[in-house]
Amino acid sequence: MDVIRDYQNILRGQVRLIYIDPPFLSGSNYTIKTRSGGNSLAADALKEEEAYSDRWEGGLEEYLEFIRVRLKAMKPLLKDDGSLWVHLDWHVSHYVKVILDELFGYSNFINEIVWKRTNSPKAQSRGFGSQHDVILLYANDATKFKTRQVYKAHNEKSRRPYSYKDKKGKFRLIEIEAQGIQRTEGRKQFEWRGRTAPYLYRKETLDEWWNSGLIYKSKNGRYTKKQYLADVPGVPVSDLWIDIHPVQGASKEYTGFLTQKPEALLERIIDSATKPGDVVADFFVGSGTTIVAAERMKRQWFACDSSEAAIKIAKERLCQNDNG
Ligand SMILES: C[S@@+](CC[C@H](N)C(=O)[O-])C[C@H]1O[C@@H](n2cnc3c(N)ncnc32)[C@H](O)[C@@H]1O
Repeated sequence: MDVIRDYQNILRGQVRLIYIDPPFLSGSNYTIKTRSGGNSLAADALKEEEAYSDRWEGGLEEYLEFIRVRLKAMKPLLKDDGSLWVHLDWHVSHYVKVILDELFGYSNFINEIVWKRTNSPKAQSRGFGSQHDVILLYANDATKFKTRQVYKAHNEKSRRPYSYKDKKGKFRLIEIEAQGIQRTEGRKQFEWRGRTAPYLYRKETLDEWWNSGLIYKSKNGRYTKKQYLADVPGVPVSDLWIDIHPVQGASKEYTGFLTQKPEALLERIIDSATKPGDVVADFFVGSGTTIVAAERMKRQWFACDSSEAAIKIAKERLCQNDNG
């Protein structure tokens, strides 16, 4: 909180994106598994030291006050077209959403992203094992906030509809006539190239597509539009993120910090809502995932954490990435 307050004048209205992954009332103490000699990244014997505590004597009430004052202090730091991403889980995400609705306005709520954070949820004696985290996304001003469409690579299932082929490559068919209820809703029909139908597009547009070879005529005389696989950059990412895997002990980015998030997660967030040169901030930076991703993506960044052990790891990581 002191850091936010101290830097408020410098950062006011400057930050394009704030991502935070704060404590979330889990009731646990979190550790860092380090190698002997204190170097968290070297490869000798393992030791475990305390990183931070997520225990709250005053319970939910104390926690919510802790998070409320910090969220309130962060908002003025954002640019008008900036955004705040708050990473939580089932413990408090619903309460924090209400606080954020109050602070940012319900109309500036953009998404509740569900990230599958583990492949092996713990077995439960009651109910179901928890397997996902929640990331709440708020725009400072939804009328000014823009995201870049992010795509996942094509997979076997997403390629399946592209079952047609011509000399330009594989393509699928997109309807250009109104379907279902839209068809009977009084939409005007017109004749185009021998077929009268409730077309979704103007004649001029259809002519343009026809002249560019983008219209497909079926045996029964119906027209559809060709969409070439090569023109589709991938599968648009939705609010369900199941394709970013948690950091495993064997992975290159593993630091031993128990709540470390994958760099791919931060890369997707930063990529979607910022441009090179923008300022990205994380006030609970932990092992430094946000700033490692931001640095690699040529964003400016600002970060802090109350744990010295976390800062030490974040620094080591940054240096290692610089050298690597
Ligand atoms: C869940 S971890 C963040 C993990 C991080 N996203 C990563 O990938 O490594 C939460 C962090 O919040 C820090 N923290 C806890 N209370 C804090 C406070 N009052 N101010 C700043 N940081 C705090 C902890 O030290 C911890 O590093």
